[in-house]
Amino acid sequence: MAEILGIGIESSCDETGVTLIKNGKEVIKNSLFSQIELHKEFGGVVPENASRAHLEKIPWLIQDTIDAVPSNASLQYIAVTARPGLVGSLLVGFNAALALGAHYNIPVIPVHHLEAHLYAVLPSGYGIPYPFLGLLLSGGNSALYHVTGLGQIEVIADTFDDAAGEALDKAASILGLPYPGGPHIEKAAAIAEPGPDSNPLPRVLKDQKDHEFNFSFSGLKTALLYLTRSEHSYTTEQLAFYFQQRVFEAIIRNTTKAAEHLGLDSVIAAGGVMANSTLRESLQLALSQIHTKLIVPEKKFCTDNAAMVAALGHEYFQTGRWPQPVNVSSENSFRQWGDAIQKMQIQS
Ligand code: KG4
Repeated sequence: MAEILGIGIESSCDETGVTLIKNGKEVIKNSLFSQIELHKEFGGVVPENASRAHLEKIPWLIQDTIDAVPSNASLQYIAVTARPGLVGSLLVGFNAALALGAHYNIPVIPVHHLEAHLYAVLPSGYGIPYPFLGLLLSGGNSALYHVTGLGQIEVIADTFDDAAGEALDKAASILGLPYPGGPHIEKAAAIAEPGPDSNPLPRVLKDQKDHEFNFSFSGLKTALLYLTRSEHSYTTEQLAFYFQQRVFEAIIRNTTKAAEHLGLDSVIAAGGVMANSTLRESLQLALSQIHTKLIVPEKKFCTDNAAMVAALGHEYFQTGRWPQPVNVSSENSFRQWGDAIQKMQIQS
């Protein structure tokens, strides 16, 4: 089989990533610069600082990646995150991709960041079992997708307010834990002593009907805030445990309900929050009880990275069809992206 070498570029938020991939799954070079230290003191991503940091780092990461191309091989495509994200950050990666594409005279394949998260399972060694239920849990998104093919994505559920990662980040800030909050809440929850009584925080959307799968986490965050302001005897670790428990039980409940409702026996779960070991284990257990398989990327491919972009780009490259690279936008929706895919041109 002829080998296909491609590069993926990711710069939608606070990670600059460039990956060289073979046949869409074998990572040859994975360069990633995380801006966490830069944004820490502000408790969240500062868009202008993020764009500048991407601009500073991307030439070096690209150079490292190009240097890793074997001397007897040539690149065949560049895949790049085109949306959604911070527009200044997106533009840095997108223009770098256009320049590389022009230099090597190879196609630039724009990919949707949220779709790419699901394809992080490819460099993790798994296949894509169409049709499947996609669960995406990141700092900006909490959604369920019914995926029937490449680019064929129906949004089944979204969040009414905060995303799961955003809720964990804000809860960490309320509890005085560092940014980003998810990993710190996980660590604190893991060492919590059993509490004096049952979880004092309310269940999320407890009256939700069986065929409704949306998420909502802002009320839970407010409940945590009021609890911390009241007289209580809980430790920070216990509060982290209770908060995480409420977030994860909502995710597990809606994911299992949606898989059953749609009759799907495979779930791909991705995004930064899926790096959480407790969630990985408890979701796996819940889905096994309804005979549904859970596929999750390696932890390093759950948070933003360019390997997932390169892997999804390879899927499109193989079909010979992809949207034209004119579509940088912070717009999140798959509907407009779907329109772009409808207008895909056959590449010769
Ligand atoms: O996918 P990601 O890198 O995308 C965004 O930039 O949105 O996800 C980042 C989110 C953050 O909210 C972070 O707190 C959360 O993923 N996260 C975690 C863990 N690692 C990262 N949440 C829970 N447990 C973790 N171990």
